[in-house]
Amino acid sequence: MSGKSVGILGIGSYVPEKVITNAELEKMVDTSDAWIVERTGIKERHVAGDGEATSDLATKAAERALLDAGVKAEELDLIIVATVTPDMVFPSVACLVQDNLKACKAAAFDLTAVCSGFIYGLVVGSSFIKSGTYKKVLVIGAETLSKITDWTDRNTAILFGDGAGAVVLGETLPGHGILGVHLGSDGSGGDLLKVAAGGSRQPTSEKTIADRAHFIQMDGKEVFKFAVKVMGEAASKALEAANISPKEIACLVPHQANLRIIQSAAKRLGLPMDKVVVNVDKYGNTSAASIPIALDEGVKSGRIKNGDVVVIVGFGGGLTWGAGVIKWYKE
Ligand code: UT7
Repeated sequence: MSGKSVGILGIGSYVPEKVITNAELEKMVDTSDAWIVERTGIKERHVAGDGEATSDLATKAAERALLDAGVKAEELDLIIVATVTPDMVFPSVACLVQDNLKACKAAAFDLTAVCSGFIYGLVVGSSFIKSGTYKKVLVIGAETLSKITDWTDRNTAILFGDGAGAVVLGETLPGHGILGVHLGSDGSGGDLLKVAAGGSRQPTSEKTIADRAHFIQMDGKEVFKFAVKVMGEAASKALEAANISPKEIACLVPHQANLRIIQSAAKRLGLPMDKVVVNVDKYGNTSAASIPIALDEGVKSGRIKNGDVVVIVGFGGGLTWGAGVIKWYKE
């Protein structure tokens, strides 16, 4: 990427208080803690309470990111929220956050790329800064997947959780920030992971409700195969774009869907697991929120330091995928 150097000036995350453990899930569906841990690495997940919506989580993460960046809400030029669980069809979550933050001069829109949404948002947001259109952009990945999870379906109920992560983007030191990115899609695989009803193809009806078509439906095995293939490929393409060798990676921050998928991505990149941020055990798969939450933990725990090459990579419904190479620098 040429021109201005754009980086993360501040980062924050938030997960709701309520926790559902695997032991609690054992009482809801035919599953076991041992099966879930062995097949996914997940031990518990946080879920939003009644009346707690995506914009509530997004706003809390955004406030933390702004504080971390030392940037005031009034300075924001644009707010992008990556989500598939908006509070309502419209207005967008980004507009609700804009109002909550009183970000008086910011434009605001939502973006849908499912679990790859945060990386898509990062690429879009940083492009606005590179082009000189905007100076400060807030990118949030926020989800309340618990609201669209079929808690009677053991294939999916064990996987998902709620949360939000946010970053403030702006100009950074030359040679630092986002050095290379790669995004991709394959709509032919859309049926593998979807919420079929509630849109214009199948508007809400008594039948769609009876069919449980407003919940996530997933072909887990096929998504798994796709994920294992695409994670390594996407990361390699972003590294190529950045002209950085995998050997230079200090830290990999992958989408937290399944520990086995994360392990296979690390293997493909030749990375030991101690260079990989893993928190899927605590939060499950929080879709667009998973990468910024993991990145925030990586930074706040001191694992990610100034000058480190950090690779973020994810995949999701659509199908979509994305990766980014960031040379970390934060004042
Ligand atoms: O952000 C993207 C979102 N999606 C994903 O990342 C999902 C990717 N896929 C996966 O993570 C894995 O495919 C799953 C965790 C969903 C499933 O793991 P798996 O190793 O692919 O299991 P499987 O579907 O092959 O099922 C193996 C067995 C089956 O029983 P039989 O047919 O061998 O008797 C399932 O019925 O495990 C059974 N099973 C379960 N058993 C206990 C499926 N779900 C469960 C469960 N508890 N929750």
